[in-house]
Amino acid sequence: MDAYNTFKEWQAKGVVTPLDDCEVGKTYNVLCIWGKLNNRGWYPVIPFLHRDKDFFNLDHYHNETRFLSEEKRISLNCDNRTASVIDPDNKVRFGKMAVRRMKCVSSEIGGLPLVAAGKRSLMHPWFEKMEGKPCKGKRCPHQGSNMVDRGHGLLECPLHGLFGDAKTERIISRDKAIKKLQKLATV
Ligand code: FES
Repeated sequence: MDAYNTFKEWQAKGVVTPLDDCEVGKTYNVLCIWGKLNNRGWYPVIPFLHRDKDFFNLDHYHNETRFLSEEKRISLNCDNRTASVIDPDNKVRFGKMAVRRMKCVSSEIGGLPLVAAGKRSLMHPWFEKMEGKPCKGKRCPHQGSNMVDRGHGLLECPLHGLFGDAKTERIISRDKAIKKLQKLATV
């Protein structure tokens, strides 16, 4: 997992991290995996290998949707509403990893974007159960990953979509947070 370690080193030195400050149209260093899917090529991933005992029992990455082109979304069967998951042990579908320069094409983080707001999903009871948990230092209480600063006092976890209040450092209602972002987007 050399590319992964390189990425971690860069992050530690504060060189470039697409996780926090990422602007549409700009190019960043992104951890990628070679995918042998309908569209062969490099697929951007969030550099956080994990296993969710709440959802399913498999080590995996999530794709970095901010760097995922439309064709790649289609080949991952990622319809803008659901996270697609990358299993690095699936050698038939995925190959080597590398850090690549990629252009940010969207501000939507993770696989559970704003359009999913208000739609009850299987994950809602879990979202509600997590409300009030601490997210000190922008650490998500679910897996300890970095939460992304969305501005307007909101933090968002790019993995499974929890939102936090940047001031109180506690998890808040996902629906309320998304409604706030949607409202701000239309002002
Ligand atoms: S790691 Fe799952 S929501 Fe943050």
